[in-house]
Amino acid sequence: MSERAALTSTGGPRERVMREFASRHGAPAAFIARGPGRVNLIGDHTDYNDGFVLPMAIDRAVWIALRPRRDGRVSVHSLDFDETREFNPSNGTRGEKGWVEYVRGVAWALRDSGRPVCGWDGVTVGDVPVGAGLSSSAALELAAARAFATSCAFAWEPAAMALLAQRAENHWVGVNCGIMDQLISAAGKAGHAMLIDCRTLETRAVPLPEGTAVVVLDTATRRGLVGTAYNERRSQCEAAAAVFGVPALRDVDLATFERRAPELNSETRRRARHVVTENARVLAAAEALAAGDVHTVGRLMTESHASLRDDFEVSRHELDIMADVAAAQFGCYGARMTGAGFGGCAVALVDGAAAADFSRDVAREYERATELRPAIYVCSAAQGASVEQA
Ligand code: GLA
Repeated sequence: MSERAALTSTGGPRERVMREFASRHGAPAAFIARGPGRVNLIGDHTDYNDGFVLPMAIDRAVWIALRPRRDGRVSVHSLDFDETREFNPSNGTRGEKGWVEYVRGVAWALRDSGRPVCGWDGVTVGDVPVGAGLSSSAALELAAARAFATSCAFAWEPAAMALLAQRAENHWVGVNCGIMDQLISAAGKAGHAMLIDCRTLETRAVPLPEGTAVVVLDTATRRGLVGTAYNERRSQCEAAAAVFGVPALRDVDLATFERRAPELNSETRRRARHVVTENARVLAAAEALAAGDVHTVGRLMTESHASLRDDFEVSRHELDIMADVAAAQFGCYGARMTGAGFGGCAVALVDGAAAADFSRDVAREYERATELRPAIYVCSAAQGASVEQA
């Protein structure tokens, strides 16, 4: 951390960007935009199969303090990377690397959709750990989208903005992600998880039962989405859908899958089985959560982990240990890896009264088993991306 960043590192992220903005620009910011990270309770690798997911936005976010500027240019300073980047949002070419590409990509997607893009000065910081499976990139994209919407005074439509941010990530940054992360960051509801139909983009907010805690368990292992097996899994799912003669694996139910499974080679069969069974688990989990049946939700989460581990093969040793250690603790209803996998975080649903002891004991047991020090966050479900006057 630079000396300057260290000087501004006290207080929460919101206070930090406000203070840094004032010191860099000699005047306070006009607005503060926030894009939350997310944790997915259940439903991984289903979104790009037009299926179902049940994520929630979390109380960790990317913040941008900003002030519109007249010359149409964007200048953003990142406290996390201790770097200032300036660009013209009305043109530019893709293919560069770095955090600012998420902001430039959103500008490109906005202008590609026919919306105006305007300039602003901004200072950004985030407390969503990067590469941990908590969607720090979607958080930055949605905070940037909010910054542009405010600077250019266009209406905020959460689903449309999520689609634009996904386009930015697919076509500008070059990561072939589905819609889950951007949609929950755009449309999350405080105190609720969100059942999302990734084909229609219909959402249903499901309240988190009183007295339960969602605990994010960071294994301290990391993955890179670009160049990992993610794209390979997508292709395998598309190949399986083609064998079934349907647009996406969402259209295959369990009975059809079982009847026709012999037509698939064993690897493709396991990939498809994960998606088909995971979609069913998500729908069952949303029902159970709405009914306050946390034991059923927990059991489905644990089954989801086994399916991601054995059929979809996107877990890793440390995630398996974390999920097992968590599930064995008093007060834990269920635990699973969350997000793309290959590293990053697990998530557990826990009795709220046991959450503090749970967190302490999981950290101890995991460290004993792996010699890695985990980070553990008891998360609350946050509202989607927001902007307010500073
Ligand atoms: C990443 C992608 C999402 C989704 C998950 C796996 O987070 O960005 O679109 O595919 O992996 O569920």
